Amino acid sequence: MGVSSMDISINKVEKSRLSEVDFADIQFGKIYSDHMLIAYYENGAWLKPEIVPFHNLSLSPATTFIHYGQAIFEGIKAYKDADGNPLIFRPRDNWKRMNTSAHRMAMPDVPEDIFIEGMRQLINLDRDWIPSSPDTALYIRPFMFATDEFIGVKPAEKFTFMIITSPAGPYYSKPVSIYVQDKYVRAFPGGIGFTKAAGNYGMSMLPTMEIRKMGYDQILWTDGFEHKYVQEIGTMNVFFVIGNKVITPDIKHDTILAGVTRDSVITLLRDKGIIVEERTLGIDEIETAYHNGQLKEAFGTGTAASIAPIAALTYHDTKMELPPVETWETANWLKKELGDIRYGRTKDTKGWTLAV
Ligand code: COI
Repeated sequence: MGVSSMDISINKVEKSRLSEVDFADIQFGKIYSDHMLIAYYENGAWLKPEIVPFHNLSLSPATTFIHYGQAIFEGIKAYKDADGNPLIFRPRDNWKRMNTSAHRMAMPDVPEDIFIEGMRQLINLDRDWIPSSPDTALYIRPFMFATDEFIGVKPAEKFTFMIITSPAGPYYSKPVSIYVQDKYVRAFPGGIGFTKAAGNYGMSMLPTMEIRKMGYDQILWTDGFEHKYVQEIGTMNVFFVIGNKVITPDIKHDTILAGVTRDSVITLLRDKGIIVEERTLGIDEIETAYHNGQLKEAFGTGTAASIAPIAALTYHDTKMELPPVETWETANWLKKELGDIRYGRTKDTKGWTLAV
């Protein structure tokens, strides 16, 4: 099946809910566009996908993913250019990553035409749901889960793939306060840290609740052996500007998500001639840089969060407060550069945007 030739059945809503939405006050993840895509996998093959009105699912209580967590997801955004045309940012990279997650979780690959062409048709249909004020976008959430009805533990044979979308403002409205975690562990080599498996987020709820009570927004995870090397933040990858270099943990140990925004940031920085080091980064090195006045900026990157400045990083008794964000050169430049590509304000020389 060619990517653009796929036949998708479309069942439109009788009445759009669009007029009920207050686009002046959109919070992340709370409202859903009129339609969703759904595709079923059974007997070793994907059935024809359907675009249908957004609705609740009906599932057997014995559906396996509810019990055993064979479930994965992705996050993508569609932006509106100045003429109101939708542009989806790097969806093929998310498609590839979804299948990396699928492989590790013993789930079938989602074919490119279901993922990309299905998404394109869904966004085309719900294009009026893409908000247009600054820093807003339509958040696209593809996901897949195992749907065998069985209480025993075994890799499932039936799966459902879906895409829902949600108009979204910024995930974080102000610089975030981070707590460096050395009690719990997110990921070990050989585990599932590099996937977008639901369990990676499920296991983070208790540690996140605990640090929220202490007044922090998010966790910076450290390695599971020594709790010494930084990995990623609960909702995003992490970058530090130390001296004249930008440093981010490398992803070669299967413990860190290969973020699409992470890759975009590294590419843009290197294109500009800025040194980016992807390597093991110890919290002691960050602390030393802070005390020497060399820790200039720290920020998270992700689809939902975009470029999220870090206000302060707390490790044990040391609170490392970063300079005011207005003075940061790197993150502010990246935010503008990335925004210009995403919103079609500049020519996309990298083939990152997919016009709908
Ligand atoms: C994204 O950035 O798209 C994510 O999936 C992170 C999620 C925790 C909101």
